[in-house]
Amino acid sequence: MKSGLKRIGILTSGGDCPGLNAAIRALTKKAIYDHDLVVIGLKDGFSGLVEGKSRELTANDVSGILVKGGTVLGSSNRADVFRYPVQKGKKTVFVDRSKDAVRHYRKLALDALFVIGGDGSLTITHNLLKKYPKLNIIGLPKTIDNDVQLTDVTFGFNSAVQRATEAIDDLHTTAMSHHRVMVVEVMGRDTGWLALESGVAGGGDVILLPEFPYDINKVCDEIKGRLKKGKLASIVVAAEGAKPRGGEVVVRKIVCDGVEPKRLGGIGQKVADDIEECTGLESRVTVLGHLLRSGVPTAYDRLLATRFGSKAIDLAVKGRFKRMVALKGADIVDVPINKVVPGQKLVAKNHPLVSIAKSLGTTFGV
Ligand code: F6P
Repeated sequence: MKSGLKRIGILTSGGDCPGLNAAIRALTKKAIYDHDLVVIGLKDGFSGLVEGKSRELTANDVSGILVKGGTVLGSSNRADVFRYPVQKGKKTVFVDRSKDAVRHYRKLALDALFVIGGDGSLTITHNLLKKYPKLNIIGLPKTIDNDVQLTDVTFGFNSAVQRATEAIDDLHTTAMSHHRVMVVEVMGRDTGWLALESGVAGGGDVILLPEFPYDINKVCDEIKGRLKKGKLASIVVAAEGAKPRGGEVVVRKIVCDGVEPKRLGGIGQKVADDIEECTGLESRVTVLGHLLRSGVPTAYDRLLATRFGSKAIDLAVKGRFKRMVALKGADIVDVPINKVVPGQKLVAKNHPLVSIAKSLGTTFGV
């Protein structure tokens, strides 16, 4: 074969999101139909590579998975190959198992590996490539957080925005019936993309983002101001990583064996309690949590994941590795992985959607 490619591997790593199966399907079908390649699916993210757990994927295996949420390959966010958790009696110790990952890459005779992941998984990929520059890896950005740099959007994000928006829409009616403040907590880790887009789409009155630490007095003033105008109910959309000015994020749990050690959660309750105290209005909280990354992908995410998968195969066939596929405007492009990480794409103070929301009367509590 001209490209020299014969066998490729695919893994899905980090928190799952809608569209992963669409990407696996696109990579697999195109590899087989256009290039007659053998496709190997690694199980449970990087742990499949470290522990040598894999299976061949045929076109039949990926048939019908386009519309399904989750990932048929399984995923893991505990599998940093450089800090791999190993159980020693009752204790978890961390060991560098990058050598095992490379050993299995070679044992499987892979000519290319496709890592479908968010910023954590792409950072692992970047570190692997630094240590083993001969590995042929291409990244595909996914996550409901939309925090990967150098791509306009990650797949999974649109589905999560859709789900969050529908939930916010629904909460309006109960908020109005009871004249309450409804606080909706959405995921997104250290970035506020999901809260911003679903907050604007759902007509949130207050949106709290990690990037803009809020002043609870300003939030309360806004709600009291609405009351004066006869608006008896208010919707507050809080990103899980939002924090008060001079305060800390609310952490539900510290997990020492995870790629992301802090499990966030709880800011919604804090905001609701604080609002109730300073406004005297009854406040309730709804935590949307993992529902945001479950279920069927939107058509947008299916298309984006499919386009990413197709572009990734094109890159591999041309021998263009150490790249990540990305969306730029209307085009699918590719960017160097070492420019994508480390770092996250944050919501800027002057982001157009922030300005638009402000001019429509939404407050960010700053
Ligand atoms: O990165 C995706 C994400 O859903 C974040 O929004 C959230 O903070 C985290 O993963 C939750 O991960 P876990 O699967 O560990 O609960």
